[in-house]
Amino acid sequence: MLPTTLTSLIVSFLDVFTSRYHFSTTAPAPALAPRPAKLQFQLRHLHAVSPSAHVVFSDITPDSISRRPVYDNYTTHEFLSGSNQTTYSLHTRPLRTHRLKSFQSHSEARLRSLHHLQTTPAHQLWDEPEEVDGPDVQNRETLLELAKMTNNAYLEPGQDGWYDLDERWNVSYPFGWEPDADGFRGHVFATPDNSTVVLSIKGTSSGFFGNGGPTVKKDKLNDNLLFSCCCARVDFTWSVVCDCWRGGGKCDIQCLEDALVEESLFYPIGTNLYNNLTYMYPDSDIWVIGHSLGGALGSLLGATFGAPVVTFESPGEKMAAGRLHLPSPPSTHHITHVYHTADPIAMGTCTGVLSSCAIAGYALESRCHLGKTILYDTVSVLDWSVDVRKHGIVNVIEKILAEPWPPSIEEDREVPEAKAEEDCVECYSYEFGDFP
Ligand SMILES: *[C@@H]1O[C@H](CO)[C@@H](O)[C@H](O)[C@H]1NC(C)=O
Ligand SMILES: *[C@@H]1O[C@H](CO)[C@@H](O)[C@H](O)[C@H]1NC(C)=O
Ligand SMILES: *[C@@H]1O[C@H](CO)[C@@H](O)[C@H](O)[C@H]1NC(C)=O
Ligand SMILES: *[C@@H]1O[C@H](CO)[C@@H](O)[C@H](O)[C@H]1NC(C)=O
Repeated sequence: MLPTTLTSLIVSFLDVFTSRYHFSTTAPAPALAPRPAKLQFQLRHLHAVSPSAHVVFSDITPDSISRRPVYDNYTTHEFLSGSNQTTYSLHTRPLRTHRLKSFQSHSEARLRSLHHLQTTPAHQLWDEPEEVDGPDVQNRETLLELAKMTNNAYLEPGQDGWYDLDERWNVSYPFGWEPDADGFRGHVFATPDNSTVVLSIKGTSSGFFGNGGPTVKKDKLNDNLLFSCCCARVDFTWSVVCDCWRGGGKCDIQCLEDALVEESLFYPIGTNLYNNLTYMYPDSDIWVIGHSLGGALGSLLGATFGAPVVTFESPGEKMAAGRLHLPSPPSTHHITHVYHTADPIAMGTCTGVLSSCAIAGYALESRCHLGKTILYDTVSVLDWSVDVRKHGIVNVIEKILAEPWPPSIEEDREVPEAKAEEDCVECYSYEFGDFP
């Protein structure tokens, strides 16, 4: 084996050759066209979900930065701050993905699975694999920029509304949202030529469509249905969000799915958002990024449309994908989750009656993620204790991604290796099945 320095030297020579020189030999031309090493993104739109569950977009122009955006009658507290970064530079990496052929057929396949337990072969729903430029998730600066793009930039400190992170982080609202915040919101970024568009979904719960909006309660229930084991039955004192628990650790799966389908807006809001965006940018490559539940939703969109996805501190969404009967895509390797071991929400350890999640009325018990995971072991490396306040994205930006990560440097890498979560087990104390 070559010493690592020599290997990287050879690799960098190869890089130079393939990108700068044309080969004049008769050898077959390299399969890959030269790709831009970096893409520049600018903030273009805000998106949000109105109280009536409609997706709304608002354009950002250079002179709208630093003044109040008027994009939704409903949001009165938003200010854009001129001091915030609005352009981002990201390294790319070739990635194989399968594009969805038709959303209509996907929806039909999902319903066939739900109502008739029929499985549709993946090749009927998705195209043959295709190589696209995805975000370079092995590059620390790229992860850092992506994390910033999911963050609460464009808001003046102290303003209510969008984001309640950092010092406003409050264990009463432990997931980065607050009761009077809207549902999903976020930003849309694009390259100057519109070739690549990034959809960033902020980590709110779909549970809060505003003060007393009609869907508030319903969607808090939904989060509990999707991310808890069995109707958020944390213990006997909880009023359950569905009635599927059958005693003795048994949970009726059909009952669970029925409850979910009747109520759920979580996934349809995401697919509407994505479909609206592709309507606006029909020829663009779309990437999806998100924090927390926004990341979980982003991952489900990636598993549907085949778009590259990067999430930060997202709760396990694999169980949700199953409960929603999403058809299994040919591959999920285009989905990357970034989280750390001291975040009980991403780790699925925010469980039990006394946890801060339970205190806020949430049971986020799922643990397993689709795709690949870049796990920062902050508990061992930084001596952090597990704490729901470590879930915030600012924490990830400033304490984890801003500096080189020593254990990765030792391995001659920039970030921990992305790995599939093999043998992930969740909700092991429940038995799921037909218990009518
Ligand atoms: C855009 O989203 C709305 C819901 O807000 C949905 O009714 C509509 O079909 C979507 N448009 C497209 C082109 O997907
Ligand atoms: C917009 O806000 C005003 C003031 O709160 C309210 O009177 C009006 O009904 C709202 N309009 C819509 C369409 O929600
Ligand atoms: C958390 O938020 C609640 C409700 O707004 C407030 O009463 C409480 O004082 C806050 N706690 C801290 C530690 O900021
Ligand atoms: C990119 O999309 C925007 C809409 O957001 C449009 O106004 C602009 O003309 C497009 N630019 C190019 C180069 O196509």
